[in-house]
This record gives sequence, C-alpha cells and structure tokens, in this order.
Amino acid sequence: TVLVVDFGAQYAQLIARRVREARVYSEIVPSTMPVAEMLAKNPAAIILSGGPSSVYAEGAPRLDREIFESGVPVFGMCYGFQLMATTLGGTVDNTGAREYGRTPLHVSKPGSTLFEGTPAEQPVWMSHGDACSEAPEGFTVTASTDVVPVAAFENDEKKLYGVQYHPEVMHSTHGQQVLEHFLYRGAGLTPSWTTGSVIEEQVAAIREQVGTKRAICGLSGGVDSAVAAALVQKAIGSQLTCVYVDHGLMRKGETEQVEKDFVAATGVQLKVVDAEERFLKALAGVSDPEEKRKIIGREFIRVFEQAQAEIIADSGPEVAFLVQGTLYPDVVESGGGTGTANIKSHHNVGGLPEDLEFELIEPLRKLFKDEVRMVGQELGLPEEIVQRQPFPGPGLGIRIVGEVTKDRLDLLREADAIAREELTAAGLDRDIWQCPVVLLADVRSVGVQGDGRTYGHPIVLRPVSSEDAMTADWSRLPYDVLARISTRITNEVKDVNRVVLDVTSKPPGTIEWE
Ligand code: XMP
Repeated sequence: TVLVVDFGAQYAQLIARRVREARVYSEIVPSTMPVAEMLAKNPAAIILSGGPSSVYAEGAPRLDREIFESGVPVFGMCYGFQLMATTLGGTVDNTGAREYGRTPLHVSKPGSTLFEGTPAEQPVWMSHGDACSEAPEGFTVTASTDVVPVAAFENDEKKLYGVQYHPEVMHSTHGQQVLEHFLYRGAGLTPSWTTGSVIEEQVAAIREQVGTKRAICGLSGGVDSAVAAALVQKAIGSQLTCVYVDHGLMRKGETEQVEKDFVAATGVQLKVVDAEERFLKALAGVSDPEEKRKIIGREFIRVFEQAQAEIIADSGPEVAFLVQGTLYPDVVESGGGTGTANIKSHHNVGGLPEDLEFELIEPLRKLFKDEVRMVGQELGLPEEIVQRQPFPGPGLGIRIVGEVTKDRLDLLREADAIAREELTAAGLDRDIWQCPVVLLADVRSVGVQGDGRTYGHPIVLRPVSSEDAMTADWSRLPYDVLARISTRITNEVKDVNRVVLDVTSKPPGTIEWE
C-alpha cells in the first residue's frame, strides 16, 4: 500500500487515483494521523499531498521527522515538498514570489530518478506562495522555475523525493511519468494492482464475513448498486437476494434491463416489486418538487422494507447483511474510518423485529467510480449498466414540471428514449455527463402540424458536462444531433410540439429541473 497523506484541499484523492492508474494500490490518511500509526500500516511508500497552508502559518500541519528517517520512500508534492524541505533543514521563504497555474519547469538533472526520459523543459501546474531556496543537506536539486530556484529535489540514498508543483493534475504534462518514476524507480514497486485482484480479494473477504448467513441488496438500476450486488453474488451466490423497486418512474427499458440483462449476467436472485400504482396514487395532485421528492422517498423506503420483511419471513433470522454500494470518495469525505458500521433498520416496518440490525457489506468502499466501472466490466455486466450515466433516485417524477400522471410519464419516457438513442448513435455518451429530458406539463404553446393548429407541451433537453455534478456546464452538442432529436420527438411523441435546449450552467441552474 502507498499511503497518501492528506493535507487538505482535495489533492489527495486525485493523487490516490493517479497512483492506482499506475497499478499500485493507494489509500488516503489524514495528516493528523500520528506518524507511528502511518508506519504501523507498513506502507511501501508515502506521498505527502499539497494543501492550502503555508508551512509558516500558525497551526499549519506538521509531520514527525521520523517519517523521513524510517527508510520508507517518501514523495512530497507542493505543501508536502515544503514540509519535507523545512523539516530536514532546508530553507523555505515567504518571498512573495507566488506562482499559480501553468509554469515552465527547467529540469537541471535530466537523468535523475524522477525526471529521467522527460523533457528538459516541461509545463507544470503550480499553486504556492512560499518557495524553497535551499535544499536540505544530502539532497540534489533537480529542477527550477524562473521564480523558484529549488522546484524539485531528491535524495536517492534515503529515498526521499519532492516537487514544488502538482504532478497529479493534467496540466503537468509529464506528471504521471514523474509519479511512476517515484513508484517504480524510487520506491521499487511493481505495477500489480488490478481490478482482477480487487475482485479476488473482495470475494474472499465477503465469504468470510457472511459465512452461512444471508444478505440483501437493494438495486436502483445505477452502476454502484449493480456492481456491488454482482460482486457479492460472485462471492456468496444464492445467499444473496436483490430487491428492485419498480416505482413506475423509470425510463424506457430500465426495469427490463435490471430484470433481464442484470440477472442474465449475474444469475442473481431478484425480487421485483411492482409498485407503480402505489407511487402514482401517492403522487396524485402533487406539483411541488419538494413534496414530490418527499413522497417518493417515503414510499420507496416503505416498499423496500416491506420486501425485506418478506424475504426475512421466508428465509428466517439468518438474513444479517445489507449490501451497499458506498464508494471511496464517500468514505474519505465522511472522515475516513475503517471497520464495519452497524446500521439499525427503520423500525416503522410491518413484520421486522424492532431490534433487527444489519451488518453492512460495502465491497466498493475502497474504489473510485472509474474503478467500479472496471470491476463491473470484469464481472461481465452489460455495457449499458456499467457505463450508465447518473440518474436521480426519484426518476422521471422530478422531470415532469407539474403533476405526475401515467400519461405524462409515458410521453416523457418516449421523448427521453429518443434523445438517448440519438446521443448514443452520435457517439456522445462519454462526452456528456448526463442529459435530463424534462416535460413542461404545465406549459402549452401553439404550433402547426400537418396544416392544423396544435396546442402542445414543450420538452426541454438539458445536456451537461461535469466532473462531479457539483458544478456543470451545458454541453455544446452538434446542431445536427439536436436537430435530429427535435424532429423525432415532435414527430413521434404525441402532444409535444416544441423542443427547447437548456443553456444554463450550474450554478445558477441545478442539473435537474426539480
Ligand atoms: P442537481 O439537480 O442537484 O443534481 O444539480 C446533481 C446530480 O444529482 C442527481 N440527483 C439525484 N440523485 N437522488 C439521486 O440519487 C436524487 O434525489 C437526486 N436529485 C438529483 C442529478 O441527476 C445529478 O446527477
């Protein structure tokens, strides 16, 4: 394991991903963890991330010197670099010589461990106020910039390396190569971590955890729950039962995809609950987005728990595990911890013993999203599931502006299917993050079709590009693709006589309309 010590500001996750791209397993630890505890994890190497602090600021995070004397190879980046420099007796000044963004790096030792085979001049991404003017004793300075005399250094004997810039970001064009040089040449690691090894390891761990008991998994149709279920299925087979709640708010073909393709690919035991009527009844007469969301959430939990209770009633008390598709970013963001949490199931459930506790199985809690997709692929899940774009839990219920009715859902399902079909045919699925298709059920406009006046509803296309859904920009789709979608929707979908494009970024607009 390579430990990535997190000094804050989101750099650590990106570094951890880059290390894994180099096929070396990495984990993030907070900089507040005592060095002795880090070393007790027996890391093969340690990377110190960047962070927002100045090494001179009061209360700036520090590290016990022992980390540099333990013999474990260490690579400091940005703040981590400055910390290494000051801790080992180098000089870091607050010179006022700031560098932000793309900066040319001059490599003075092209044969050095980190820079071998990379250009003498390469663009790197800088973000710092303080600068290192003198490397610690025993270190060789390997690169500089116009502003910073010591922009990289290394001490091969002690296996200590550092760069002032951020090799993990894309704008540092040779960053991945430099990182790999540290891992392979500096730390002597071999690239052996693969999704295949993740699957093997997880399958063994799940078997041990579950023993002869049983587990339940809720399937949403999304990537995470599907891959988690497939992995657990591989481990314990018929001891797993999956529950899929069809709330009638799914897109065209999605329920079938879970019912047929997923089951075919995994052989999983699936309980499908057809709850369309129940949801539509609960949603009748409701137009307010928040109220819709609350109703859908509430009904969902009720139906799911009912199904759980039935499974437990059928198979007895040995149902002790609940599978969840928690990902590594969720784990890191919620404070890190390892070990299994116990959750108490909601107690407003008919038939469930009040004190029933599930132990969680979270086979994806060490993985990033792209890795989850790779695991899914390796497990033989269909491409349509593995590469699925995000889709909100409340489904099409929050893509109808106005009251949700069966007719409107059917209409929106048609329009959405056409948009998806054309985007896929144009090869745009990977370029866009997602493309909500929204029905403005409360709006009507006048049109003309076949010599007659129409008075129909508009459909909104909301294609966006994004990295994490926190911010987004509207996708600049080719006009001819937009034209095809528009023509087909207005021709093929009854009561729709207009297609409009949402050209709002997020913020200020959210991705979904409700
Ligand atoms: P917004 O509309 O907030 O959406 O910009 C951000 C991302 O979250 C998805 N989304 C949801 N996902 N349950 C979900 O599982 C929800 O209630 C929900 N609401 C929005 C949305 O599709 C986008 O990817």
